[in-house]
Amino acid sequence: MDRLKINGGNQLNGKIYISGAKNAALPLICATLLTDEPVTLTNMPVLSDIRSMNALLTQLGTSINSRDDLINGNPAKSCTYYTPKLESLVAPYDYVRKMRASYYVLGALLAREGYVELSLPGGCAIGVRPMDIHLSSLEQMGAQIEIKNGYVIAKAPQGLKGAHLVFGIASVGATCNVLMAATLAKGHTIIENAAREPEIGDLAEMLNAMGAKISGIGSSKLEIDGVDKLHSATHKIIADRIEAGSYAVAGAITRGRVELINADASTLQTPLNILRQTGVKIENTADSLIVDAKGCDLIGQDIMTDYYPGFPTDLQAQFLTLMLTAEGASMVTETIWENRFMHVPELMRMGANINVHGHASAIVRGVKKLYGAQVMATDLRASFALVLAGLVAEGQTIVNRIYHLDRGYEKLEEKLHAVGADIERIKDEEED
Ligand code: EPU
Repeated sequence: MDRLKINGGNQLNGKIYISGAKNAALPLICATLLTDEPVTLTNMPVLSDIRSMNALLTQLGTSINSRDDLINGNPAKSCTYYTPKLESLVAPYDYVRKMRASYYVLGALLAREGYVELSLPGGCAIGVRPMDIHLSSLEQMGAQIEIKNGYVIAKAPQGLKGAHLVFGIASVGATCNVLMAATLAKGHTIIENAAREPEIGDLAEMLNAMGAKISGIGSSKLEIDGVDKLHSATHKIIADRIEAGSYAVAGAITRGRVELINADASTLQTPLNILRQTGVKIENTADSLIVDAKGCDLIGQDIMTDYYPGFPTDLQAQFLTLMLTAEGASMVTETIWENRFMHVPELMRMGANINVHGHASAIVRGVKKLYGAQVMATDLRASFALVLAGLVAEGQTIVNRIYHLDRGYEKLEEKLHAVGADIERIKDEEED
């Protein structure tokens, strides 16, 4: 397994290009299954999660044509997905186990073919992650669902029908799955307490470009009038707000100045407000976000994660790490996932002063110094937090198990190296 070697202490200065959003791309790829015509996605990030999703779609019968492209003069990928006929209606265990977002094929295949078998994803490092809202919503839309041998078997031989759904939790995944299913259902669907994350808006915009009739985009009440057929479209994936937020912290924690090209500040308002309150200067230009912490003495801030537009759970670990370099104490509260402080014990090994209370809250006290160490994390965002700590630590940090990072951060070490970080990937077989 590859590792990252980081020699801490360099200030980061310069431009970082923000890729297309992983968490938008994954449901968008599955939405291409709703039509027998080709759909092109541009600004596609190059990540192992995207490769896993592409492998699943190939297995279902999709042909994928991927090519190099330029977005605002920067290299990117465009992919055309074409599924004239489905060869399989099964999402097998080996695919879902690698990447739980495979469950986005549920809504799409059920809507198009009236049948799907999906290996039920289990829990993961950050939480139990049930699918009850996805399944009960599809049942309310007329699907018959049973769980057998670890698989969800969903049938709707007469097609799905519109329903008035009220979500108990504003789940991102359930909103995407139901949205896809409702586009081809007969009649009108209402989703109340829908998730409002920008990635859902992106999915709804593409579905409308394919001929769907979705209104209320960006709000917590989505209304969908089912149509008989969806068609071809070309869609540009939004910029990754979590990648942008992660690099904003990289600039701030090293007291540097980074310009995040292609970042969309409108999707990051709550985390940017926190950064401003710590003392970091933030500036927006037409196509970038400038984060300037040069000469700043940061002041610790309290953070509580919440559904969008609240503070994103996917930036909690990174901001918690930033607070270690700020003056005073910060209380960090996690409300979305029940086990998302796995980075804390590793940060403690680097000299952090953090007190976790139960599963939900942590008191983070600013420390004079962090010290390099061998560390590893059990999820994507926690792994980035360890990279951040390595960037400011005295001495050398080795981040192990970086396959987590490869799932969600395109060209991580190249992007950081280009702005001044002393960071290097050590291949599995190489000597340290
Ligand atoms: N939940 C239920 N029942 C359900 C669905 C969700 O109880 O049927 C609970 C979950 O257990 C969790 C909460 O509701 O406690 C929110 O879950 P949600 O469904 O919104 O999350 P998700 O769709 O599984 C996506 C992102 C996560 C991100 C969350 C929250 C993707 C592929 N994943 O997960 O991203 O943390 O939304 O914003 O979009 C990451 O990128 O590192 C990551 C974990």
